[in-house]
Amino acid sequence: MKMSNSESSIINWKNVFSESETFVNNKPFKFCFIENFLNRDFFEKLYQVYPKIDESWDELNMIHKHQYNREWDPENHSEFTQEGDDPNLDANWNIFKKYVESDEFIENIKEFSGVAVNKLKYFRFIDYKKGGFTQPHAHDDGPDTLVMMLYFSKNGKKGEPGGTFVATDYDEESIIFEPYNLDNSLVIFHDGPNSIHGCRYITKDVARHSVQITLEKYSSETGWSGRTEESHNEQKKNSELIDIS
Ligand SMILES: [Fe+2]
Repeated sequence: MKMSNSESSIINWKNVFSESETFVNNKPFKFCFIENFLNRDFFEKLYQVYPKIDESWDELNMIHKHQYNREWDPENHSEFTQEGDDPNLDANWNIFKKYVESDEFIENIKEFSGVAVNKLKYFRFIDYKKGGFTQPHAHDDGPDTLVMMLYFSKNGKKGEPGGTFVATDYDEESIIFEPYNLDNSLVIFHDGPNSIHGCRYITKDVARHSVQITLEKYSSETGWSGRTEESHNEQKKNSELIDIS
């Protein structure tokens, strides 16, 4: 475990590493839930200035999901999260995002998970309101992709939707885990063909603030190990060619 003095006040690394065995051994894919992820004082600083939904957010109102997304530095966003600050966010969010990009953070998550990630791919805010949901799905990225959902909601109640569930099939009867404490907690899973997850329909007038952090293996020669728009289009083109022949 790497921990420099300046950054040791950001994440409760001992807490994180105590869940490492659970993560590695969970079936049918690697996942776990970590409470008290951030140092409480630092969490409160971020919580107080979690960005409000405004024109910098996108409302995704589709057949399979209804949520609000805000990219990091939306004015300069291209396909992936760029390095550097978001000038429209509070200094503490910039401190946190910079730490998530650092070798210390990435090396620790790599050691915790055993997954060969080495770069931040996405850092985005995801918010759900009443009527929000995401149907069970799997991205089938990987083999070196980790997805983390970090929660900033204090009024989660046992049995109520809003957190990211994990499931063994594409229906809510197959849910094997759903988090209810959304106050400074994290769901992390290893992306792959079986990593089914989603968010149940929210019927109450609540806000479910979160941040999605995706780490992946990256090489300057071959690019991202997981899916990109380019590789996705290429795959589609190839499958169309196969269909024709
Ligand atoms: Fe997803």
